[in-house]
Amino acid sequence: MNQAALILIKPDGLKKSLTGNILTRLSETKLEIVAAKMVRVSKALAEDHYQHLKDKPFFGDIIKYLQGDLHDRKKVMALVYWGEGAISKCRQLAGATNPEEADPTSIRGSYGRITTSGVYENVIHVSSNESDAEREIKLWFNPDEIIVKLYPIKAIEEEKVKKNTWA
Ligand code: PPS
Repeated sequence: MNQAALILIKPDGLKKSLTGNILTRLSETKLEIVAAKMVRVSKALAEDHYQHLKDKPFFGDIIKYLQGDLHDRKKVMALVYWGEGAISKCRQLAGATNPEEADPTSIRGSYGRITTSGVYENVIHVSSNESDAEREIKLWFNPDEIIVKLYPIKAIEEEKVKKNTWA
């Protein structure tokens, strides 16, 4: 069954120049990339993304981490991979959430670390399941930024929306 998975290359992955390596590893899945962009992550977006962890002691740290405050790289690369078994294929290549427990040949096992304060810097995020993927993809992308129709959409008319265009 075709599935979509949200992948985030986190600020440590960008700072360590791992984008190419990570995309090459993920290409082993033969999945299709149907959306990709660089995102400057607001506190609100980071908190929404990790909303299920808001009571964890490391919540504040992972918000700062995703925003790039710990790596002087205030950006994240967000992608949607799509195809047969996308979530399990991407999670397999990513390895376990805890980089110390991840298969050493996996992305997190190869490049992740745990900070002295116990926060996982595990280089990428991969959606855990289909419902998380849908919630996360809708949080990070607008429908027009995804080149396949993943979820139902509706057209709305907006008046007087101010937006930038090329001068
Ligand atoms: S849970 O507990 O199963 O709901 O958590 P999970 O969905 O796996 O996501 C946990 C995210 O928090 C990041 N993180 C940590 N988790 C556990 N312990 C520590 N110390 C920790 N530090 C950071 C972890 O990397 C997960 O984020 P993602 O982006 O999914 O890797």
